[in-house]
Amino acid sequence: MFFRNAISVFTMILLPLTILDQAQAQDTKEKAAAVKDEDGKYFDGEGNPTFKIEQDGTVDWYTFSGYRRYHSDCHVCHGPDGVGSSYAPALVDTMKNIDYGSFLAIVAEGRKNVGGGKQNVMPAFGENKNVYCYLDDIYVYLRARAVGDAPRGRPPRKADKAQAAKDHEASCMGG
Ligand code: HEC
Repeated sequence: MFFRNAISVFTMILLPLTILDQAQAQDTKEKAAAVKDEDGKYFDGEGNPTFKIEQDGTVDWYTFSGYRRYHSDCHVCHGPDGVGSSYAPALVDTMKNIDYGSFLAIVAEGRKNVGGGKQNVMPAFGENKNVYCYLDDIYVYLRARAVGDAPRGRPPRKADKAQAAKDHEASCMGG
């Protein structure tokens, strides 16, 4: 009886909540709008890192850095500019549906999708400094590609690298 009740509690209350949660997690251009600037690093209304693209196409430093890091560590599987490949999903789509916390968790822990005679593996990057020191950079770059109209290819112009970015890099890569 207990289990039956537990299951119906789950389907009646928790399941709709999970679905609702996912609906709310849907990222949009409006949600991603930068409302705060901390030394060249931008944050949205919920305090999550985000991108800033000026009218003339100049991207903030972190978006540019994320573009470079993405193309050295992720693009072999996820395709150039996040468009996906036959091996791994298009992150320009994924990023519309996952929040910052889920992104960090997936990249740190990796994932395995085994089935249908295929075994596609997303490696864990939690120990890889070239990735985890730049996770916010990669996040904002992909977010910009997914909801921010960032065009494909190398951003034509970028903001200068702020001292805060240099300090973070030195302590993370050196530590
Ligand atoms: C060796 C190939 C490979 C590399 C390199 C790789 N991934 Fe993945 N990634 C995958 C595969 C395969 C999946 C799908 C796993 C699954 O189906 O659960 C995946 C899934 C993901 C997902 C979840 C996608 C979704 O729609 O659920 C995210 C986010 C992600 N990867 C981000 C990254 C980032 C960021 C990098 C670079 C730091 C990266 N990946 C590098 C193969 C890779």
